Amino acid sequence: MKTILITGGAGFIGSNFVHHWRKHHPEDRIINLDALTYAGNPENLTGIEEGANYRFVHGDICDNELIPKLFEEEKIDTVVHFAAESHVDRSISGPEAFIKTNVHGTFNLLEAARNTWANDSGCRFLHVSTDEVYGSLEADDPAFTETTPFAPNSPYSASKAASDHLVRAYFHTYGLPVLTTNCSNNYGPYQFPEKLIPLVFINALEGKPLPVYGDGKQIRDWLHVADHCRGIDAVLQNSHPGETWNIGGCNEWTNIDIVRLICRHLDELRPADRPREELITHVTDRPGHDRRYAIDAGKIMRELGWKPEYTFETGIQQTLAWYLENQTWWERVRDGEYRKFIRQQYEELAI
Ligand SMILES: NC(=O)c1ccc[n+]([C@@H]2O[C@H](COP(=O)([O-])OP(=O)(O)OC[C@H]3O[C@@H](n4cnc5c(N)ncnc54)[C@H](O)[C@@H]3O)[C@@H](O)[C@H]2O)c1
Repeated sequence: MKTILITGGAGFIGSNFVHHWRKHHPEDRIINLDALTYAGNPENLTGIEEGANYRFVHGDICDNELIPKLFEEEKIDTVVHFAAESHVDRSISGPEAFIKTNVHGTFNLLEAARNTWANDSGCRFLHVSTDEVYGSLEADDPAFTETTPFAPNSPYSASKAASDHLVRAYFHTYGLPVLTTNCSNNYGPYQFPEKLIPLVFINALEGKPLPVYGDGKQIRDWLHVADHCRGIDAVLQNSHPGETWNIGGCNEWTNIDIVRLICRHLDELRPADRPREELITHVTDRPGHDRRYAIDAGKIMRELGWKPEYTFETGIQQTLAWYLENQTWWERVRDGEYRKFIRQQYEELAI
């Protein structure tokens, strides 16, 4: 039995992981630590009850009194670290919070683990990171492998790269039993509606403009969040400490094609007066926008037998159905902070 500290477990991927872990490892005790920033939502955790094997702690990973206390008090033996400032656009308008949480917060967690865990105790610290640390690819470049040099281009990816380096250093310097996963773009239930797929879906449903950065030809590799959670689980159970693992869907799409796909599905599910593709509106591109990311997930497939269970077709259908069934969830989320962000970001559309 493990006592697992999940940081950022009220966010998009973290909350999906809490549901995953509760379902597949019901005997383990989960401590979910989340600061509940604009991106954290306790309603993502509906059905997860406080009790002997679940505790929610409202707190900041940068808090250097709370974190060591939590490690001691709860006898944490496993960390799955999701907590982060995660939105590239927000990192461009306000980078400081990214350095604080992503770099300093990760450092604080590593220190607590180093000061609490004895060597060879079977403990694990799994750091969840992104493919964005590797930078941008040209159309014909091979996909990122675990040995691709880091070349981050935004304050977000630079802060994640810094945290990945710290995690690596704690393995080499102190022998801390760390693992790192670098994953491609996720989609699925509970994704905050400022991200591409939920944003386009909700605007299309409501007949509002569908903002597409620049020419929309930026390429991303998409993975269903449930497959990401299964990948993290596989790494946690089977990897030697010190390893890094790329997780990706082998599923490259341009942004504009994704927007068109969502429009087509929605036209079938909820017919409108005119095709929703007509709502597509190109807006000024994000500064330094990376052109292409692609993950080579060969290592995790070969060595741990992981592969995605969702195709993009089935995953998108499941996700759109979830957003249609959970309208109250996203209507409540998009009040407040979200609406302010959308107004600033897409001023030119006057949404
Ligand atoms: N979303 C993706 O496509 C993607 C892809 C690859 C990797 N990742 C990584 O996965 C992780 C989770 O991403 P996400 O999309 O779920 O992010 P998210 O923004 O939806 O969730 C982040 C969570 O962390 C919490 N948090 C933020 N600052 C905190 C702090 N100082 N202390 C405690 N909690 C804090 C927030 O309240 C929120 O619940 C991140 O580390 C991100 O870099 C995301």
